[in-house]
Amino acid sequence: MTGRIERALVTGASSGIGTAFARQLAQRGVHLVLVARREDRLRALAGALTHSHGVEVEVLGADLADPGDRARVEDRLRSDLQVVDLLVNDAGLGGYGRLDTQDPDLLRRMVEVNVTALLHLTRAALPGMLERQRGGVINVGSTAGERPGPHAAVYGASKAFVNRLTEAVHEEVRGTGVRVLLLAPGFTATEFQAVAGVAADVAPAGLAADPDEVVAAGLQAFAAGRAVCVPRVADRALLHAARALPRVAVRRVSGLIHARGGGR
Ligand SMILES: NC(=O)c1ccc[n+]([C@@H]2O[C@H](COP(=O)([O-])OP(=O)(O)OC[C@H]3O[C@@H](n4cnc5c(N)ncnc54)[C@H](OP(=O)(O)O)[C@@H]3O)[C@@H](O)[C@H]2O)c1
Repeated sequence: MTGRIERALVTGASSGIGTAFARQLAQRGVHLVLVARREDRLRALAGALTHSHGVEVEVLGADLADPGDRARVEDRLRSDLQVVDLLVNDAGLGGYGRLDTQDPDLLRRMVEVNVTALLHLTRAALPGMLERQRGGVINVGSTAGERPGPHAAVYGASKAFVNRLTEAVHEEVRGTGVRVLLLAPGFTATEFQAVAGVAADVAPAGLAADPDEVVAAGLQAFAAGRAVCVPRVADRALLHAARALPRVAVRRVSGLIHARGGGR
């Protein structure tokens, strides 16, 4: 399923979709480099995956909002020793509220992690992959990047960047042997909503996709060389509907939904 992928670097591996990526890649015998801030979680996951699947797992604790830490992860991606041939840019965070009331430092971190880190890690990984004519990048964007997101304006804009960038780079490297996939999930049951301060009754987990389902769809799409994967039928239908509706209606409905999530 993962072709000739031998070693993957997964950001955001301490939780949610990133942990599911680490598990499913280890099940396929892929060695791992796990990146996030919570090193205790990464070490526990590394121990479990090495024990159950016999894969090598490196732990690389890094705050991707910090340029110095980002540079260490970029160096690891460029290394010729134990070459990384799949980069999964999964780390990300959200935040709800009217722009003028949101914490400026939260907004900065959202842009640094969701946009700047993803861009620079992709830029660091691609040259070696292109030289070897194999490997690839999976960028985790979002269906939220396909519509204006009042009360989650910066998050939506950050994911619009990820979605547009990734599809464009997929096209740039077409035919080189290197694959670039945009994985754009909708609402998924992870720690994301709690981290973003959304109450559980506003975002009921019963409506959410399972992270394992999202990752399985993503790895299948990557293996097939696709450009974009929106894992759930319901989310694909909503995207089609949003394209057909007048933009003003999409803005209003989107704003009402996000305002319930904590937009003041
Ligand atoms: N859940 C959803 O409904 C949903 C929908 C569409 C797209 N997504 C996207 O899916 C991706 C994964 O999110 P998730 O749903 O799995 O949420 P999650 O459970 O909250 O996981 C987020 C991951 O990002 C890492 N992270 C956050 N800030 C970081 C920083 N400064 N430096 C390094 N790592 C950082 C976290 O690790 P540490 O805290 O340990 O650093 C954690 O491993 C995100 O890009 C998100 O935008 C999620």
